Amino acid sequence: KRTIRELDVAGKRVLVRVDFNVPLDEAGRIVDDTRIRAALPTVEHLLAQGASVILMSHLGRPRGRRVPALSLAPVAERLSQLLGRAVGMAPDCVGTEVAAQAAALQPGQVLLLENVRFHPQEEQNERTFAQHLAELGDAYVNDAFGAAHRAHASTEGVPRCMGAGASGLLMEREIAYLDETLRCPQLPFTAVLGGAKISGKIELIEHLLDRVDALLIGGGMAYTFFKAMGLEIGDSLLEEDRIDTARQLLTRVEKGGLDLQLPVDCVVADRFAADAQVQVVACDAIPRGWQGMDIGPQTRQRYADQIARGGTIVWNGPLGVCEMVPFAQGTQQVALALAAATREGAVSIIGGGDTAAAVAQAGLAQAMTHISTGGGASLECMSGRVLPGVAVLDDEES
Ligand code: 3PG
Repeated sequence: KRTIRELDVAGKRVLVRVDFNVPLDEAGRIVDDTRIRAALPTVEHLLAQGASVILMSHLGRPRGRRVPALSLAPVAERLSQLLGRAVGMAPDCVGTEVAAQAAALQPGQVLLLENVRFHPQEEQNERTFAQHLAELGDAYVNDAFGAAHRAHASTEGVPRCMGAGASGLLMEREIAYLDETLRCPQLPFTAVLGGAKISGKIELIEHLLDRVDALLIGGGMAYTFFKAMGLEIGDSLLEEDRIDTARQLLTRVEKGGLDLQLPVDCVVADRFAADAQVQVVACDAIPRGWQGMDIGPQTRQRYADQIARGGTIVWNGPLGVCEMVPFAQGTQQVALALAAATREGAVSIIGGGDTAAAVAQAGLAQAMTHISTGGGASLECMSGRVLPGVAVLDDEES
């Protein structure tokens, strides 16, 4: 794979796909600038080499229309503060005015293109549109790991048109941890999977089952497994159409002597609310009318003990309804266990936006080996899928 370090960019205009899809509040202010900060090393590297930088990104899902609330203008402002230099904001991502702005760039200057998803051709990966984007720069770098699972014009079409592309520093780091480390993990290899649903994670579970020494399950998805085992789950989250899948996975675990661990106790509530009545019960004793909200204290201890064995630990998905304080303890304790294991030499890899947010909220972001900036992309990468935005950079013909 070509990396940014191998490019001679002095005096060139480098077109960089970044993932500036950041959360905004109702007033259009940036709530979390992690993804902007994560792109800084690549931008700074290119500027230091004497390049000018043209950044392109999507923001939200405007579905091919110009939606003013999804303009990247607030991002240009924040980026300018973080870089300590002016960042030009283009009125669009293609067109004569933008082409002129790009052509006029001098070494050291930065231009941010407007949201590429304002054009339907972006998601259609339409060739002429990709060609117009490609014409803006002399070289292409993809640093948008978070969007690398999308075969869109800015992630896949442009490098194909330009005949070459390189991965940026963030992309390199993400691939190194989420792909390469997981291929050859330091042992024992433990995976912690949570989140509401099995449906989005079947491939990940299947891929990990054969590789890990232990797979610890929590979150809403645990209850579909319980249902598949014939247990009463009260009003807990259930994916009816995944009960069979859960049953098949459990059969595979049993036959293969694999170590898939489910909670032994859970925190249940009489309704889905932070001020609900709460009790801790064994997982085979969930009362009718109650619902599971978090893993219980015994499970937390078991999972923490497994995590403490070290090696490599990957974590994707909260263990409970962690946005409500009474049900955040499972997620917090797992985060603390991962941080402690990392201090002892384990490699900890966090994937998924909710999990990254939970770790940041616990003040433990610096304590982990790697926190991915990818949501869907990290899930797909960890599931062993080749991401189109990465594959095209590997492709000799691209
Ligand atoms: C993300 O937030 O996961 C990426 O920016 C991709 O966004 P998308 O799911 O709208 O393609």
